[in-house]
Parts: sequence; structure tokens; C-alpha cells
Amino acid sequence: MSTFQHVLSPAVVGGLELKNRVIMPPMGTAMSTPEGFFSERQAAYYAERARGGVALVVTELTSTCTTYENMGGLARMDADECIPGLAQVADAVHAVGGLLAVQLTPGQGRNNPAFTPETPPVSASDNPSYWNPAVLCRPLETEEVRAIVRSVGEAAARCAAAGADWIDVHGHTGYLLDQFLGRQWNRRTDEYGGSVENRTRFATEIIQAVKAAAPGLPVSFRLSVLNHVSGGRDVAEAQQIALLLQEAGLDLLMADDGSYDAMDWVFPPYYLGDDCMVPSARAMKEVLSIPVMAVGNLTPESAEAVLAAGDADFVGVGRGHIADPAWVGKLASGSRADIRPCIRCNQMCIGNVFAGGSLGCAVNPEAGNELTLSIERAPASKRVVVVGAGPAGLEAARVAGLRGHTVDVYEQADHIGGVLWPAASPDFKRELRGMVGWWEGQLAGLPVTVHTGTRIDASSPELDGADDIVVATGSLPLEPRIPGIDGPNVVDVLAAHQGATLGHRVVVAGGGLSGADLALELAHDGHDVTLVEMADDIAQDMLFLNRLPLLRQLAEADVRLLTQHKVTAVDASGVTVVGPDGPVAVEADTVVAAFGVRPATSLVDALAGRSGVHPVGDCVTPAKVGEAVNAGYRVAVDL
Ligand SMILES: Cc1cc2nc3c(=O)[nH]c(=O)nc-3n(C[C@H](O)[C@H](O)[C@H](O)COP(=O)(O)OP(=O)(O)OC[C@H]3O[C@@H](n4cnc5c(N)ncnc54)[C@H](O)[C@@H]3O)c2cc1C
Ligand SMILES: Cc1cc2nc3c(=O)[nH]c(=O)nc-3n(C[C@H](O)[C@H](O)[C@H](O)COP(=O)(O)O)c2cc1C
Ligand code: SF4
Repeated sequence: MSTFQHVLSPAVVGGLELKNRVIMPPMGTAMSTPEGFFSERQAAYYAERARGGVALVVTELTSTCTTYENMGGLARMDADECIPGLAQVADAVHAVGGLLAVQLTPGQGRNNPAFTPETPPVSASDNPSYWNPAVLCRPLETEEVRAIVRSVGEAAARCAAAGADWIDVHGHTGYLLDQFLGRQWNRRTDEYGGSVENRTRFATEIIQAVKAAAPGLPVSFRLSVLNHVSGGRDVAEAQQIALLLQEAGLDLLMADDGSYDAMDWVFPPYYLGDDCMVPSARAMKEVLSIPVMAVGNLTPESAEAVLAAGDADFVGVGRGHIADPAWVGKLASGSRADIRPCIRCNQMCIGNVFAGGSLGCAVNPEAGNELTLSIERAPASKRVVVVGAGPAGLEAARVAGLRGHTVDVYEQADHIGGVLWPAASPDFKRELRGMVGWWEGQLAGLPVTVHTGTRIDASSPELDGADDIVVATGSLPLEPRIPGIDGPNVVDVLAAHQGATLGHRVVVAGGGLSGADLALELAHDGHDVTLVEMADDIAQDMLFLNRLPLLRQLAEADVRLLTQHKVTAVDASGVTVVGPDGPVAVEADTVVAAFGVRPATSLVDALAGRSGVHPVGDCVTPAKVGEAVNAGYRVAVDL
């Protein structure tokens, strides 16, 4: 019997048979055509996930009505001309044995970033726009709400005509529908406001409209049990709402948490830990008779445990499927260790989308690029040398090995992983550390030999005869000229991660991602920590939504933040910092230097003029794991 017997067991929802208990929940790709039609690129992206074995692929939020809101670049199903685009997605998913659900959104409301003076954001009431609180939303007229209900039904009929198998209603995380559900946003006096029944009416009418327009298709609903905003609903009210949705004919409830005002719950970063929203699913299971899906930072093991415990009937694995489309297939074939972990960084999936690009992935360069990127066998096998076994070098070696090249990786340290190995020592970064184990496993079956404890310079004989040299030597710490910085009480951030002896009182000098994460880890370990940063704010190199839980957790762990302060001296008693009010002495037993890094360019410089040399990763421009992995992949796919 498989270890993942619950995950892999089939089930029937609304008359539709699902081959296992894993659903890929909706995730915006920003890959539709400029007209808002589903594209060939989306078809390839979704089909790849279906091919990987997931029971149901749910599309991203798809607009049903563009009359009252400017829907920006969203996919839409508000007209018959949208049907062919979706049909190509459905055909592609069906061709590989998958099932397709379409997530229909009646609107974004105050979450909509694309409003204009001519098309202001709309909402249940005159709520402030999330993106610009100075702008108040226009409350929808009662007739307009009814028109939107009709639009969802009409869109559902188009989805059915395009071949979709299921409709999901986008009711969560403070989008328009949730602005009606939530008392903190709904101050209406018509039949869509007031009591829980009235606030839920928009949602129940939508479910009924979908059922009537697309008979036979199961309907699910995404409900954020807790919005994590003040004045928001509690679990008891969420249960009441869920029961009303069930009465309206719902087939499955997808339970999560959050809102744009608590955006870390919508896209939970590593700080939120495993299974962060399972309690909400469990609360729904307590009252509902229809199936419930749990979602949020699930691992294969925790997904199995959640199902075995009866906390949910299905598990949603979202970013896990961006990172590895064959998440389910690998479990089914007994290859759990081959699943490439999502490192919960949000960097290139939602990070790209918020930055105006389209979905990608920090650890899977092919995500969103299924039509253009694939690893093909090279026409002739070459001898490739990779210098440096950090993320850039390891990914280059993996891809080169898969292409049939003979690869030697040389690493000066006695372990692989580069900066990642020490940097991912905090428990909250264990998925990041898991990447190192993943590369180790992947390289084992390839023509790749890893030589640790071997430092390479331009005259090293190991480079002789190499057709191509991938230089992935990473970075070196920045060492600002500060009196006392070379004292015995000063420790580098990586040494601190690697278990250097630290006193009780620690000053972390440098409040970028690396310093801030270390400060949090040390505070968790019981140290008294002060984080000093000369800029106005800490962790400005992080995605804004990842910073939310970081700042919250630093505060909970009593880490003192000293921003706008520059370290000017270190001595045996601690540091002197200078801020807007002049110099301040901060006592510390240990000072951790986390001033950032600079590219380690010496080997690249020394090999200048030699052909076939490819610098990648931090040794070109220090960034993050995503940039290093993507650069390593892209160089090797062309060797
Ligand atoms: C403290 C810290 C925390 C971080 N946390 C995160 C995070 O949470 N998320 C994130 O995305 N990014 C994080 N980063 C950044 C991320 O780790 C780097 O961007 C990434 O590791 C760069 O990969 P790379 O392969 O280019 O270089 P590296 O990881 O630096 O690897 C380079 C490797 O080359 C080896 N090497 C160098 N010269 C030679 C030589 N001459 N011969 C042989 N071997 C050599 C080095 O020993 C090293 O192992 C963090 C960085 C630090 C410093
Ligand atoms: C890039 C991205 C886009 C998302 N877009 C949507 C969306 O369109 N509709 C939706 O209901 N949820 C959306 N979500 C939330 C996911 O469905 C899911 O709840 C979340 O990623 C947590 O699950 P995970 O930890 O398995 O990724 C999105 C998440 C990501 C990462
Ligand atoms: S970009 Fe990061 S969070 Fe997003 S899917 Fe990839 S690894 Fe996961």
C-alpha cells in the first residue's frame, strides 16, 4: 500500500470522478492575450500540470463582467468570442487525461489595481481602494449586482460550451464577492446587506445561476474563513456562510484565509510554515456535508496527514505545481524524493505578476515557458566544467547532464549548495534547504561528477580540455571600513548561520533579507537581538507581501529594529551607530556582519578571452536563488 494512500485515492464530486485528492487551485498567470482570451501559452502551462497527474486543474480568476470594472489583463469569459481560447485549454488538458475547472470572478472590487478615474473601483459599499485608500469605491446599485449574477451564469454556460468540467466561484480573500460577505466591507441596506443571509445572497444567487446555466458541472467556492482584518468575521460566521452556500447547491468548498490587507495569507511565504490554513478547512468540515479542500503550504506528508485525519477531503497544491508539475505523478510512482520543492519565496510566481510580468518560478525555469523551454538531448556530448556548486552551478550541471554532456562540478567547500546551505539553516527555510538535497538526488543519476574540497583558479588542470566552463562562483561579503569590524566579537552572517559561537546579546549589522532572517532565527533561539539598518526600512530587497509576516514575527520575537542608523564603530562592548539624533551606543556580546555581498569575479576575470566561458548567478550580479537557478538553466540548455 502506498505511503500516500489518502492523497492518491479517487473520489466523486457532483457526479464527476476525480482520480485522486489533489486539486491545483487557481493561480493567476497573466498569460492571456491582450484581449483577455486564454492563450496557447496557458494551454501548454495547464496541460503540463494535468499531465503530471493532478486530479483537477483550476484556471486562474476569469472575469465574467467588464461593464462596471476595468479588469486590466485578466482572462475573461464575458463574451462568446472568448470560447475558442478556453476550448484550446480544455482540449489540451483533456488530451493528457486531466480535468479542467474555470474560476469565475464576479469582480475584484477594492482589490482591483486597474481602476481609472473613468472606471473607479466598485464594492459593496464605499470602501477605500486597497491600492490607494484615498480613492473610495463606488457602491454597486442593486440592479448592477443582479446583472453581475446573470453575467456569472452566462460565463458558466460559455465555459461549458468550451468543454470545462467544473466551475469554481472566486469568493475569497477580500475580492468583490467577499466584500459582500464581510461585515467590515458591507454596509448596504438592500437585500444584499445586513444579516449574514443577506450578505451571502450575492454568493448563493451566483451558485444557483451557475447551476442553472451549466447543468451537470460541479461548482466549488473559495471562501476565506478568516480574513485576518480587524472587524472581520469569526469562524462561527464563516460556518454560517458555508452552510448557506451548501444549501444553495454547492458541491465543494475550498477553504483558505486572508485578504489583500493580510496578503501573506493569500500567498503564504515560508514564514507562515506548513499547513498554515488547515484549521480553517477543519472548521468547515465540522459543519458541512459536502467535501472541503484545504490549501496552503502543504507538503506530500502533511497533505496525507490532513486527509487521513479527516481535516479535509481534498488538498490544494498550488505553488507546488508551479515548482513541479508532476507533484502527484511522482508520488504515485514512488518517487517522492524527486519532487522539486516550492521554496515559498513568491519571488517569480506572484512576484512577477505583481511586477507586471507573467508567471514564472524561482526553482522551475520552465514554468510558464512550456512552449519555448525544454531540455533536449545535445547533438554532441561535450565536456563541461562547472565551478561552484551553489544554485546556479547545480542547476547548470543538472541541465547539462540531462542533455547528455559529461559534467564535472568543482566546489571549494566540503559540501554542495553554495550560500544556500548555510543561509537556509533557519527551520522556517527548510524547503529552501530541501533544494540542495533535491539537486543531490537529481545529479546522482546523471553523467555528473561532483568534486568537493577543490578550489579552481585559471591555471587549474581541471579546466584543461573543457569545451565549456560555467563559472558560478557566487559572491563575497561586503566588508565596510568600520573601526573594530575585524575584532574577535564580530562574526560574518554565514558563519553565524553555521553555528559560530554567539553571545546572548547580538547586534545584526545590516537589515537586508539575509540579516533580517538571521535576526529572526537568533531571536527564536533565545538571543536578545538588535537589527541595525541605515536605510529607512529593513528588508527592502524583499517582496512586499513577504515582508508582512517577517515584520510581524520580528516584533513578536522582540527584535529591536534600529533603522536610519549606520554602524560607525565596533568595540568590545558593542557598536556605535549614528542616526538622525546623533551617535548611540548599543551594547552587544556579538556583532554579526550582514552588510551584503559583491560578485566574486576573480575567476571570471582571470578567464577573460578564453572561449566557452559562461559566468552565471551571483558572480555576475548578486540576487536571489531564483535568478541563479534560472541563469544556470538557461546557460546549460544552450550548451
Ligand atoms: C545569508 C543569506 C541568506 C540568503 N537568503 C536567501 C533567501 O532566503 N532566498 C533567496 O532566494 N536567496 C537568498 N540568498 C541569496 C542566495 O543564497 C544567492 O543569491 C544564491 O545562493 C546565489 O547562487 P550562486 O550559485 O550564484 O552562488 P553561491 O550560492 O554563492 O555559490 C557559489 C559557490 O561557488 C563556490 N566557489 C567560489 N569560488 C570557487 C572556486 N574558485 N572554486 C570552487 N568553488 C568556488 C563557493 O564555495 C560556493 O559554494 C541569501 C544570501 C545570503 C548571504
Ligand atoms: C501566482 C499566484 C496567483 C494566484 N491567483 C489566484 C487566483 O487567481 N484565484 C484564487 O482563488 N487564488 C489565487 N492564488 C492563491 C492560490 O490558489 C493558493 O491558495 C495559494 O497559492 C496557497 O496555496 P499553495 O501554498 O499550495 O500555493 C494565487 C496564488 C499564487 C501563488
Ligand atoms: S517562485 Fe517561489 S513560491 Fe513561487 S512557485 Fe516558484 S518556488 Fe514556489
